[in-house]
Amino acid sequence: MQNNSSDIVWHSHQVDKAARAKLKKQKPCVLWFTGLSGSGKSTIANLLEQQLQGQAKHSYLLDGDNIRHGLCGDLGFSDRDRVENIRRISELCKLFVDAGEIVLAAFISPFRTDRAFARSLLGNQEFIEVFVDAPLAVCEERDPKGLYKKARRGEIHKFTGIDSDYQAPSDPEIRIDTASNDPQACVAQILDFLNSNGFLE
Ligand code: ADX
Repeated sequence: MQNNSSDIVWHSHQVDKAARAKLKKQKPCVLWFTGLSGSGKSTIANLLEQQLQGQAKHSYLLDGDNIRHGLCGDLGFSDRDRVENIRRISELCKLFVDAGEIVLAAFISPFRTDRAFARSLLGNQEFIEVFVDAPLAVCEERDPKGLYKKARRGEIHKFTGIDSDYQAPSDPEIRIDTASNDPQACVAQILDFLNSNGFLE
C-alpha cells in the first residue's frame, strides 16, 4: 500500500540492500511456505533454518501462529482478515529482505491473489514459493493441534480445508511432498534449489 500524501517523502539511505547482502555473504530472498494447517510448513522451515544457521547464513523465520500473537493479533480468519494478514506479512518480508536476510515465511496463505501480491512486492528473483503439499486427509490425520477435530465438531469456523478455501499454487518454484518424504529430504530439496540458484554465496 502506497502513501499518497505529498507530505511523506521516501528517504534513500547510504547503506543499502546490496551492501548488507554482501556483508552477509548471501542473496536475500523469501522462501514463502504455503500449505494446509498440519502440512508441515513450520516443521520444514524450522529444520531448514537450523541448517542455514549451521552454514553461517542469516535467516529469519516468520510463522503464522507466532505473528498472530503480535503484529497480527487483531486479526481473525475471515477472508478479509486473512488478506490483511498476508498483506502485513508481505510488507514485513520486504523489509527483512532489504535487511539482507533469507526469510522463511510459513503461513497457510490460502488465496492465490494474496500470494501473487507478495510476489509482486518482492519480484520473481527474490520470491520463492514453496508449496508444502500434503492431502487434506493426511493433515487431518496428523492434526497436531487438535484443530481439525474442533473444526469438524463445529467449534471452529472458517477452518482452511474444512469450511474455508485453500487454493493450491499452480506453478510454485518448489513443491515438497511431505506425505511421502521425511522432513530431512524436503529440506535437502530446498537447499538444493538455494545452492543451484546462487542464494547461499
Ligand atoms: S492464514 O490463512 O492467514 O495464512 P496463518 O498461517 O496466519 O493463516 O495462521 C494459521 C494458523 O492459525 C494455523 O496453523 C492454526 O494453528 C491456527 N488457526 C486457528 N484458527 C484457524 C482457522 N479457522 N483456519 C486456519 N488456521 C487456524
